[in-house]
Amino acid sequence: GNPLDQAARDVLLGNDRGGYTIPTARLYPYQWNWDSMFSAWGYASFDMERAWQEVHLLFASQWDTGMVPHIIFHKVDPDYFPGPKVWGATHEPPTSGISQPPVAATLIRKMYEMDPEASLPHIKALYPKLVAWHDWWIRERCKDGPVAIIHPWESGRDNCPDWDLGMEGVPVNEDDPYLRRDTTHVQETERPQKWDYDRYLAILAFGRSVNWDDREMVENGPFLMADPGISFVLLRAFSDLIALGELLGEETAGLQAQESKLRAGLDKMWNAEKGWFDAYDMRTGRFANVLGSGAFLAYFAGVSRPAQDAHFARIWDKVSYGIPSADPDSERFEPRRYWRGPTWPVVNSLIAMGLKDMGRTEAEARLRDETAKLIEKGGFWEYYDPMDGTPCGGASFGWTAAVWLTWCG
Ligand code: DGY
Repeated sequence: GNPLDQAARDVLLGNDRGGYTIPTARLYPYQWNWDSMFSAWGYASFDMERAWQEVHLLFASQWDTGMVPHIIFHKVDPDYFPGPKVWGATHEPPTSGISQPPVAATLIRKMYEMDPEASLPHIKALYPKLVAWHDWWIRERCKDGPVAIIHPWESGRDNCPDWDLGMEGVPVNEDDPYLRRDTTHVQETERPQKWDYDRYLAILAFGRSVNWDDREMVENGPFLMADPGISFVLLRAFSDLIALGELLGEETAGLQAQESKLRAGLDKMWNAEKGWFDAYDMRTGRFANVLGSGAFLAYFAGVSRPAQDAHFARIWDKVSYGIPSADPDSERFEPRRYWRGPTWPVVNSLIAMGLKDMGRTEAEARLRDETAKLIEKGGFWEYYDPMDGTPCGGASFGWTAAVWLTWCG
């Protein structure tokens, strides 16, 4: 096989901390929700048992509300800020107080397809937890139809321009000093700015003050924006969860009703003036007027509209490698700054999954090829400059290794 296959397996094994896999050493030394699901999918290509262990450990930290947290702090590590004390969530083991894009049902279904017999007992055990998590999303985050996030970190696309509008309204706490750790591991120019961190921390302070009560966060929290990215991920995940339920002979009418409701809410995010699915501020109803990779996750959910397809073609032709996280024609585009321009193999893999299912095989092949080139040239990095392919962010990155093993390698 390709020598990169073994290198990819070595990345996952090197990031294994005993039952859970960190995204990369130092920068992200804990278990992250969607990173962990991608690691599981990667393990499934060579070690099914290890793959299921990863998933079970993630869901072992599910809250009573059904929420599955975005970080699980198994062992405190001073390399990362903000740690469990700053989050102040009352849970054991300590966790953050927010969630992350629910890719679990979809990737679990992929794992099932890779080995149905070995997977079935695991799916049986996990199914009620998945149902509870999906129910939590609908109950606590979908008041208006689409998924609304209470913190940019919940979207997984932390500092993308989508959130600028909502972040402008977050009051900053000037006399609450803090020390970032991320910029000691990665160049400052590839990370979010102080402007963002001041507001990330202010939202955390509010969450702490209400003990991460979802109703409080949604009704009175400093930030609340509808997110096309998570809405499409959840919509897709519902169809996979329903398929898993049918496999187990479960009654899925309730899930189907929730899926339909979510689908009916998509129109609220349609910015007709711009011709794309757009984030909006739930407090004011104002559109962000920002095109980014969240909108293109529509394909992942099997959704496409001609006006947005045209934008997809336009921005893809502006770059050389993969789908950029922000619009290259926008003045906010920064090709190396985290979610403000770089291309992310993991997002490319989700968009490609959708393109393939929709029969757009040429586009899928192009995206796969461009993503593979990035990894062949640069190795397994967190994200890449979409113009010249320069690797950025963290090295030896788990989910990039995982999508090599499962998709583009
Ligand atoms: C970080 O610390 O940058 C993470 O993305 C938060 O989830």
